[in-house]
Amino acid sequence: MQTSPLRKVDTPALFLDLDIIERNLDAMQQKMTGLGVDLRPHIKTHKIPELALWQIEKGAKGITCAKLSEARVMAGAGVKDIFIANQITTPCKISGIWDLAREVCLSVGLDSVAGAKMLSELFAAKGGELEYLIELDTGLKRCGVLPGEPAWKLHQQIKDLPGLKFKGLFTHAGHVYGSANREEVEAISRYESRLTQETAEIFRQNQVEPQVVSVGSTPTMKVWQGHQGITEARPGCYLLNDAMQVGMGVAELEDCALSLGATVISRPTPDRAVIDAGAKALALDKGGHGLETVKGHGVIPGRDAYPERLSEEHGILKVAPDEPLSVGDMVRIIPNHACPVMNLFDRAYGIRNGRVEKEFEIAARGKSQ
Ligand SMILES: Cc1ncc(COP(=O)(O)O)c(C=O)c1O
Repeated sequence: MQTSPLRKVDTPALFLDLDIIERNLDAMQQKMTGLGVDLRPHIKTHKIPELALWQIEKGAKGITCAKLSEARVMAGAGVKDIFIANQITTPCKISGIWDLAREVCLSVGLDSVAGAKMLSELFAAKGGELEYLIELDTGLKRCGVLPGEPAWKLHQQIKDLPGLKFKGLFTHAGHVYGSANREEVEAISRYESRLTQETAEIFRQNQVEPQVVSVGSTPTMKVWQGHQGITEARPGCYLLNDAMQVGMGVAELEDCALSLGATVISRPTPDRAVIDAGAKALALDKGGHGLETVKGHGVIPGRDAYPERLSEEHGILKVAPDEPLSVGDMVRIIPNHACPVMNLFDRAYGIRNGRVEKEFEIAARGKSQ
């Protein structure tokens, strides 16, 4: 059996290589600083307050969250500037937004008159003001009004609602995850910025200056050259990277900071090994929005083996018959998609030079309200 110091941790377990994280943090921060753009990383990737604070310490202006409950955890840990890049439409969330807005500098997304009225009603009744960014759909076909005139029209409809204050525009070109290669990523990145900037220009021509014009996903920001009029970038996954980013050609395996440690529990045949980590550890995600650029359910660097199938608690590796993988051995798997994997564990182990240095609580895991 192997004698790695990591064997002190029971498997399946998440390892975060702290040197790689720091490199990824520095690279993205330096790039955005160089381009004169604010970085507001999406923390849904890691869900760990200490990592959010590290991003801010390195120069991020604030953070992006997907959910109010995530934002609460981050605020509780001391993050002061939070954008919830989502639509808030339930009574519980609206009153939670009011409470959180007392504590931190908070802004939210909006893409409808109905949603705007819900927030306006409460904030006006209580005598407060909430900043919002209009969400644009630049191709993902998720939330968002269409860029250009439809966005300006929405602005006209909601601009005078009491209790609300226009802050800017944002988009997320998540359909980039359907890209087969870097050239396609580059084209979507340019388009994301161009449509958002053109929309901002319509506002400016009408004497409305968006304070924030925000774009971003990890792939589109990795290849980005900057774009006139864009003020903010919101990548999230760049901190950890994963097999999908590698598949699209925007990261190398050496840039992947997250690995799942798993132990071989059976080698029934020369071409099959079974590990103690299945879909409840690795997730079944092969790419949120389109093409699959990955093979199987992750990558095992340095091994002629990969997770071919997952049941809930078993991972079935396809193994080259001469690959020396024995019962009791640990493998380290780079997941296809880091974000859902982080959401499956209570803690992650920060490692440096192959040794555990720090244990992190993944405090915002499961925070989906
Ligand atoms: C609105 C929004 N902004 C930013 C991001 C970050 O993108 P990525 O996961 O590619 O880093 C996401 C990811 O889903 C998102 O939904």
